[in-house]
Amino acid sequence: MSFPTEWTSVGSVWQLPEQGCRPAPTNLRQCVSADAAALPFASTSFDAVFIGYGLRNFPRLSTALEEVYRVLKPGGVLVSLDFFLPERSWLQRLYLAYLYGQGAFWGVVLHGRSRVYTYIPDSLRSFMSAKSFSRLLDKMGFAEVTARTFLLGGISVHWAWRRDRSRTT
Ligand SMILES: C[S@@+](CC[C@H](N)C(=O)[O-])C[C@H]1O[C@@H](n2cnc3c(N)ncnc32)[C@H](O)[C@@H]1O
Repeated sequence: MSFPTEWTSVGSVWQLPEQGCRPAPTNLRQCVSADAAALPFASTSFDAVFIGYGLRNFPRLSTALEEVYRVLKPGGVLVSLDFFLPERSWLQRLYLAYLYGQGAFWGVVLHGRSRVYTYIPDSLRSFMSAKSFSRLLDKMGFAEVTARTFLLGGISVHWAWRRDRSRTT
């Protein structure tokens, strides 16, 4: 897969100035404050959409995925990196405790505040497994959904393609 030559960065209003535009890749075309569930872009305008640790924070995940599908060109790809819940419930509890402990430790060491990173297990608690997310992408119409998991399923990179043929939406 070759990388796009021009980027558009999208983030929510309150965080975009800090996270969306800095550090900016030299070929960043624009920074846009927008809700992932209502992207202000024409259909079929992007070759690829990259989401880093974002989708588990989207309150309307299915709508956001519909939006990603809509703005992708046919044959375009969604690549997402995020935290997920491991499949087994005892492992979920262990993993959340691990993230909480690590987050509190590094929050104190790096920022003097234990709560800086503990939002991660908080936001993950009610999320889903990497397998469930693959199934959701499938259901939303994406093709060739592929996942590579790390940390016993606690982190995953997903790839999913918009079908070449246009959908009716
Ligand atoms: C944990 S940060 C990750 C930031 C960046 N991608 C990174 O990896 O450093 C989560 C990001 O999701 C964005 N976000 C959360 N909800 C959103 C929404 N509904 N629409 C657009 N962006 C959203 C926030 O602006 C925030 O920048």
